[in-house]
Amino acid sequence: MKKFYVTTPIYYVNDVPHLGHAYTTIAADVIARYKRLKGYDVFFLTGTDEHGQKIEKSARAKGMSPKELADSVVVNFKRLWERLNISYSHFIRTTDDYHERVVQEIFQRLYDKGDIYLGEYEGWYCTPCESFWSKSQLVEEKYCPDCGRPVERVKEKSYFFRLSAYQDKLLKFYDEHPDFVFPESRMNEIKSFVKMGLEDISISRTTFRWGIPVPFDKEHVIYVWFDALFNYISGVGYGTDNEKFKKYWPADLHIIGKDILRFHAVYWPAFLMAAGFEPPKRVFAHGWWTVEGRKMSKSLRNVVEPNRLIDAYGADAVRYFLLREVPFGLDGDFSHKALAHRINGDLANDLGNLLYRVLTMTIKYLDGVIPEPTKDRDRQLEELSLKMLEEVDRFMDVQAFNRALEAVWEVIRAANRYIDVSAPWKLSKEGRKEELSNVLYNLLETLRLVAVVLYPFMPVKMAEMLEQLGCPSEPKPEDLEWGRIPVGGKVKKGRPLFPKLDEEEIARRVEQEIKEGEEMAQEIGIEDFAKVKIIVAKVLEAEKVPKTDKLVKLVLDTGSGVRTVVAGVGAHYSPGELVGKKVLYLSNLKPKKLRGIESQGMILAASKGDKLYLPEFPEDTPVGAEVR
Ligand code: MSP
Repeated sequence: MKKFYVTTPIYYVNDVPHLGHAYTTIAADVIARYKRLKGYDVFFLTGTDEHGQKIEKSARAKGMSPKELADSVVVNFKRLWERLNISYSHFIRTTDDYHERVVQEIFQRLYDKGDIYLGEYEGWYCTPCESFWSKSQLVEEKYCPDCGRPVERVKEKSYFFRLSAYQDKLLKFYDEHPDFVFPESRMNEIKSFVKMGLEDISISRTTFRWGIPVPFDKEHVIYVWFDALFNYISGVGYGTDNEKFKKYWPADLHIIGKDILRFHAVYWPAFLMAAGFEPPKRVFAHGWWTVEGRKMSKSLRNVVEPNRLIDAYGADAVRYFLLREVPFGLDGDFSHKALAHRINGDLANDLGNLLYRVLTMTIKYLDGVIPEPTKDRDRQLEELSLKMLEEVDRFMDVQAFNRALEAVWEVIRAANRYIDVSAPWKLSKEGRKEELSNVLYNLLETLRLVAVVLYPFMPVKMAEMLEQLGCPSEPKPEDLEWGRIPVGGKVKKGRPLFPKLDEEEIARRVEQEIKEGEEMAQEIGIEDFAKVKIIVAKVLEAEKVPKTDKLVKLVLDTGSGVRTVVAGVGAHYSPGELVGKKVLYLSNLKPKKLRGIESQGMILAASKGDKLYLPEFPEDTPVGAEVR
């Protein structure tokens, strides 16, 4: 049996899973399912990257140990993959003991053969990216060229990997394997990068502890990327089940995002060559998603939470959309409008309606029985369907998901037209039974093949569709042929596969959400805050403003004079309670007339719901003290 080994990156555990993680994982799942459908023995690996300074820092900020943080985040990943029907063979965590042993064994081996040596590292480090940079690579000499954040200067003893010794070998390898990196443009980028010259890379650290120890020097922990990349071999049995490893290695496809291509297309094959393993067959670097036209970022509060998408649209529609909307390899923009539009257009109208029409007619004209076709039936849908199978295969081999889906939709549209042209209702009325049976057979069989090839993309909905067509719900390799529908069996009309969405309502809701997100996200700089003058003042007099419930007129001692303010605290504090109290006073607010009284600033209180809280101060807080 032919084998296929596909992987996702292993995800950092300092954050909850977002759209970008879901995207890579869905793509890998669709490939894994498609290859299984084609009869391959598939191994599909995903997991989490749990070591490194970034995780250590995040854990500390949350008051947890790194392992506790990892344990809690792993649950989120696993739950999400379950909801998205991700059919992974194994979930690896880099804190798994078998993985740690493999990394140490290989580190030792490369040290013994001289590919790893002890040196001194002096340079710049970006913690969020876990990347070292030379000065010439930095932006404006202080920012990380990948993420734009400030880098830290580090100087320490470090073990180095002799990457420089692999420059020529890598270039030769790229020349002999022009399909190693996809898309092609990225292969060119990588080649130019390597041609510019490779320096040895630092692969150990002494400034923090959360990592796999260097086996012969416990002062050092192994650099997180050296640790992480080897998941692709430890996760498939190297060191624990060597038969399995031999069967599946080399990996056929590493799916990753474009930001981590250098690690996968330069370091990884070099590490493997050094350790005596074959490099993987292909690394596919996909593009990045923006959200409603903007970069996905926590501070913009627009990070798309895949669970919310699944709640709103269903897992299969999300899977379909992500792979249909944007050519794999290019950047794309996620919008609810585009998603709803795809669901209504492609899924509900084109596919859902076609199925509904064909099932309704089969039930109405043939009592729901799948008819036996005659030899002289027309073959146009058959020919189109066979062409579709070929095209889907060709496009899936180069991970062109959107083109594979386009090829399927061509057939769906042709089938819709075929109904209109062959007018089964007319054939039925005129008693042309044989023709009617042929037409419905052609349609049912076409729909079956459509469901089979779409199964890897939308496993739950397509299983339902196959059942409605009277077929087994899980397709097998032999089902990828024309003529497999069980003639004489019965179709079953079920609920609509893809209910229609109210696009206008969705657009309105999203607009509202974006507005709220932006309002909440408006950040200010320290220079903005500096404009605000807040001081401690003492209430000298307080009286209710007549004919109001809430307003109280206060006379304040500000330390440099007396001021009058009108405050909305009357529902919570009586004038008597306020006199003598020290309050926070915003003194440089433009004066404003309230109920005929000039309010010269305002006092500050905290509030939640309908509760209000005035701050308390230690006895000796001086009037006039400034808040900074
Ligand atoms: N831990 C490393 C990978 C080690 S693999 C041996 C890592 N983890 S990550 O969690 O930061 O990112 C994982 C993947 O998510 C990357 O492939 C990255 O490209 C992808 N994405 C992160 N944000 C993304 C988008 N906005 N859009 C699409 N993919 C994005 O890197």
